[in-house]
Amino acid sequence: MFFTDLLPQLSLAEKASLLSGDGDWWTQAVPRLAVPAVELGDGPHGLRTETGEDMVWLPSTCFPTLSALAATWDRDLVREVAAAIGAEARAMGVHLVLGPGVNLKRTPLCGRNFEYPSEDPWLTGRLAAAYVDGLQGTGVGACVKHFAANNQETERTRVSVEADERTLRELYLAAFEHVVREAEPWALMCSYNRVGGTYASAHPWLLTTVLRDEWGYQGLVVSDWDAVHDKVASVRAGLDLEMPGTGGRTDAEVVDAVRRGELDEADVDRAARRVLHLVDRTRPAPGPLRGLGHRPGDTLTPAQEELLGAAAHHELARRAATASLTLVRNTGVLPLDPASPARIALVGGYARVPRIQGGGSAGVRPTRVDTPLDALSAALGDRLVTAEGYRVGATDYYQERPLPTDPDADEALADEAVALAAGSDIVVAVVGLPLAADSEAVDRTDLALPPAQVDLLRRLAALDVPLVVVVQSGSAVTMDPWHDGTAAVLLTGLAGQGVGQALADVLLGRADPGGRLTETYPLQLADSPGMPTVTGERGHVVYGEGVLIGYRWYDALDRPIRYPFGHGLSYTTFALDDLHVEVLDAAAGRVRCTVQVTNTGARRGTQVVQVYVGDPESAVHRPVRELKGAVKVALDPGERTRAVVELTGRDFAYVDATSGAWRREGGRFVVEVGVSSRDLVARAEVELPDDPALPPVVRDEDLPTDPVAWAVGGDGPVRG
Ligand code: BGC
Repeated sequence: MFFTDLLPQLSLAEKASLLSGDGDWWTQAVPRLAVPAVELGDGPHGLRTETGEDMVWLPSTCFPTLSALAATWDRDLVREVAAAIGAEARAMGVHLVLGPGVNLKRTPLCGRNFEYPSEDPWLTGRLAAAYVDGLQGTGVGACVKHFAANNQETERTRVSVEADERTLRELYLAAFEHVVREAEPWALMCSYNRVGGTYASAHPWLLTTVLRDEWGYQGLVVSDWDAVHDKVASVRAGLDLEMPGTGGRTDAEVVDAVRRGELDEADVDRAARRVLHLVDRTRPAPGPLRGLGHRPGDTLTPAQEELLGAAAHHELARRAATASLTLVRNTGVLPLDPASPARIALVGGYARVPRIQGGGSAGVRPTRVDTPLDALSAALGDRLVTAEGYRVGATDYYQERPLPTDPDADEALADEAVALAAGSDIVVAVVGLPLAADSEAVDRTDLALPPAQVDLLRRLAALDVPLVVVVQSGSAVTMDPWHDGTAAVLLTGLAGQGVGQALADVLLGRADPGGRLTETYPLQLADSPGMPTVTGERGHVVYGEGVLIGYRWYDALDRPIRYPFGHGLSYTTFALDDLHVEVLDAAAGRVRCTVQVTNTGARRGTQVVQVYVGDPESAVHRPVRELKGAVKVALDPGERTRAVVELTGRDFAYVDATSGAWRREGGRFVVEVGVSSRDLVARAEVELPDDPALPPVVRDEDLPTDPVAWAVGGDGPVRG
């Protein structure tokens, strides 16, 4: 028996009740027909369940945030982490996890960047599909969010994104499209913002034309929490479930609108059917940890830890953190030699209380936390000396009490740390952004670390002692004036509860730093895409940079940057050579690229081979290069392998504003292979014909007198 089959037996009021939640985390049950409720729980890097009578958070494993996890460039590992989150959801009786987030990092200022994988749609889509696959393989649903163009927190509940159709489709919709087509998520969450003046929660073009009619999406569309402004318009546009519940208020609005003939009952049926379909897909037995009333101080009992899989998942969190740590600079000081008698100064409050995640709805109450201080003390014993260096607000890892300003206290701590560092052989300074800077509902206004940390680093960098800087942040930070005085810079992102051990293992060379940047690090904020009006004004944000965000922007403007997209160093070295690019099927645009990768160093290590495509001759302006494939390899010294990437017609195409369709324009394409967007080792050209399935290209001079649509509104683009 399927609950979906019960639809004809439901009254209009019962159907309408399915279209809104019961409180914050449940759908509404229909007791008369024994239709159960479904529980939703926040993700995406661990579970945030408000459970028990007093609705406090249950501990769960805090994995690397999606931004850090993405730095692994490892789809298998992402799948494994998502499966572990699924197992924890089952233990807690949660049916649907509200993640992954697949919005692009349009600007490094966005407060939720720590929740999003990348500035690149190809990478975001591939990693998110692996996440959905891993999670749903455990019988727990994924909810891909926030659809669409939710790329800032400033005015997020009402700002209108003004973007042209090509920009939306090539960048901001592309990852959603890939996940929907490849991984079939059970749910998708619409965003708070407006697109072209229409709220995403009531946007017929987004929710129906594109998502359902074009991409064939079969799952449920749920609103972001309180994102519905006009329930009837939302249902009509294609929204299925409004969250959280409204105590029946909007259910009555739906019933009235049908009775008055303003809403077609078929729309209500469609949405109710999708909610019932979700109920059909979920149905696990209530989790054994359901209903535990935990208070902030409580820990899980050993039996509860066992049910959660806490020990194994902590190991996985460590492994994932290790694979995400990104070494961007190394003059040779790393790895530290564990056997040398050198005295190492560990400086920084975040070594004692690491920044493991960002703030807001994605916050997880971790089951435990490995701190860098504990892990390095255990490994180095008396050789490690420590100083706080700067003040850290009291934190329990998902909340942080802000500090009052006190320059004297900052200076006293910095003086102590600098004196300690001056008498040491090596300094490891752990710094980062406070929780408030990596948080939902607020964007940063600059990219610098807090002033007290910048000042400390400047003083440490001026000493004649090698300085290793470890940065913990959910998105790019600037590194002046201390960068050039460092011997190494290691980025941990917000790497979850295993970060301390992972950091010790990488610093001491027990593990290779496995991460590669998934976003560009600019030299200064003013260089970054869309500046200075990037978050808009007076209710509108104009995506004037079009398809040029991230490395696409810096490459188009030929701007110097601090560290490029894709960059990251191993402790070994690699050679890439013997690139072959072979056209398998010219009409379909299928091309195979193979390149030989050799570990030329003395240690085992990982490398991420990246394939970029460019189209130098085109009817429209195109990015210099775009990532279209990547392979992560792990090799022993002297070992070699061939990395293979198969490109499809879509990988050469752009979105044609005259039709809204992806178009491959025949001609010469450039294929580049490298280890970052700015470190391209080999290059080849291929000749491909026009995509035979499409009408001929419309050149500018042949365009109709009315220009083609610029911004996309609720009914979609108006084509000239
Ligand atoms: C966030 C969502 C989250 C939801 C439930 C919203 O404010 O934007 O990402 O899943 O709250 O906590």
